[in-house]
Amino acid sequence: MFFDNQSGLSVGNIERSLTSAIAKGFLRNEDTAAIFYDLTFLQSRIGRLVSCFPSTTLHALAIKANPLIRIMNFIKTIHSGIGVEAASMGEVNLALKTGYSPDRIVYDSPVKTRAELESALKTGVHINVDNLSELERIKKLLEEMGYGDKLSSLNSDSPQTYDKKNTIGIRINPQIGLGTIVESSVAGEYSKFGVPIRDQRPSLEKVFLNYSWLTGVHLHVGSQGCAMQMLIDGIGILYDFMLEMNEKRLKKGFPPISNFDIGGGLPVSYRRDEKPPSMEDYVAAIRMRAPGLFETQSSNLKYQNHNSKLKTNKHSNFQIFKSSNFQITDTHTIITEFGRWTYTNAGWTVSRVEYVKHDPAINTAMLHVGADLFVRECLNPRDWHHEYSVFDSQGSLKTGVDDHPYNLAGPLCFAGDIIAKGVQLPRMEEDDYVVIHDSGSYTFSMWSRYNSRQTPRILGYFNEGEKFEVLKERESLDDICSYWK
Ligand SMILES: Cc1ncc(COP(=O)(O)O)c(C=O)c1O
Repeated sequence: MFFDNQSGLSVGNIERSLTSAIAKGFLRNEDTAAIFYDLTFLQSRIGRLVSCFPSTTLHALAIKANPLIRIMNFIKTIHSGIGVEAASMGEVNLALKTGYSPDRIVYDSPVKTRAELESALKTGVHINVDNLSELERIKKLLEEMGYGDKLSSLNSDSPQTYDKKNTIGIRINPQIGLGTIVESSVAGEYSKFGVPIRDQRPSLEKVFLNYSWLTGVHLHVGSQGCAMQMLIDGIGILYDFMLEMNEKRLKKGFPPISNFDIGGGLPVSYRRDEKPPSMEDYVAAIRMRAPGLFETQSSNLKYQNHNSKLKTNKHSNFQIFKSSNFQITDTHTIITEFGRWTYTNAGWTVSRVEYVKHDPAINTAMLHVGADLFVRECLNPRDWHHEYSVFDSQGSLKTGVDDHPYNLAGPLCFAGDIIAKGVQLPRMEEDDYVVIHDSGSYTFSMWSRYNSRQTPRILGYFNEGEKFEVLKERESLDDICSYWK
């Protein structure tokens, strides 16, 4: 296996970009903290992702990792095939408002109401059902909407706007165990997500053999802390299940399960000495374990209805339906949902050092971001680590190590508001800057309103600070009043 040598931004890149932002006035005096995104790096990440998978893959980037509208818009301009994964109706709406077409939106919430399901069906987004009760709600809604459980009837000239291209899948827990971070591992023996494959296999088989319109499987093993092999094992279990179900569905004249959603979860590096697996390696391993997924994609299949004559594609593990009656073309066999891999290493956060306190054996740098932006880091520092660098007020890197280590403390009113404890760093003084590396995902999207602090300015840049864009303006004090109204 080779490791990802493009896993993050260099300190040199950050120094040049920070110096440039200060010199060009993008980091103003009122910007006590700011979040930066290297859009050149992000562009190359997307390019790599797209080039690793077959061209018909739907890359539904997890909105929860980074819901900034300007970034969601930017991603669309990089590759027209990019979609988004939405964990709530709020995120579905965000995606629609940002101009993502419904067939590029994957709706994954674990707790969907009847009204939300109906709206999702009418809008035409892909739906990943979380559990068997939810599946029954879908069945009922399809019947109420006049579709019944016959796939062919989805092709009727009904005035309803159900888009025949989008699909309904079900989230399956492959039960392969927990990763190193329990709170972000979701494929253990027990999980609040999905239908456990070992415990509920007969029920799963039953729904796949009763509902012709259930044409997708979905898994997500965890987010960070799950080794690549765990992800592959999960995919393997679902792949074998899918092949078995497809053989049985074929005999019943059902279309095959044709959407295979692998979720996200490829771990990234938060430490300079840690080399995560590359996306290229991950895809090679998926291809080894589940070759049919790749063959189907490249053979440009057309799935057709249950009255059709069946024909087997010799290059594929799937069966093809042949008829002039009903077609679902342009089906995305693989769906991905990468959030952390896409955004983490593209983003960094900077805070001005407002004060430095010197206690007998420890220094404390008082910063302008803490548990409001770094919720997980403050509450569970053992599992959530970052690297830090110190720059002077002009943005030049400081080197060396102070006599005593530093606590990096946030501005909130509770003792746990400390991002990192006992870090060896260069000597700091007021008006220096501390950079928190690799903070482009699951940070601003988890912002806490506690203490009513203003959200920081968010900047995007190209070519190490040659060009900047304001992605989101710093909140005003009035914005905070509006929030609490
Ligand atoms: C269903 C689902 N898909 C995708 C993701 C994104 O995972 P990651 O950001 O690790 O790629 C998550 C994260 O929790 C998730 O719950």
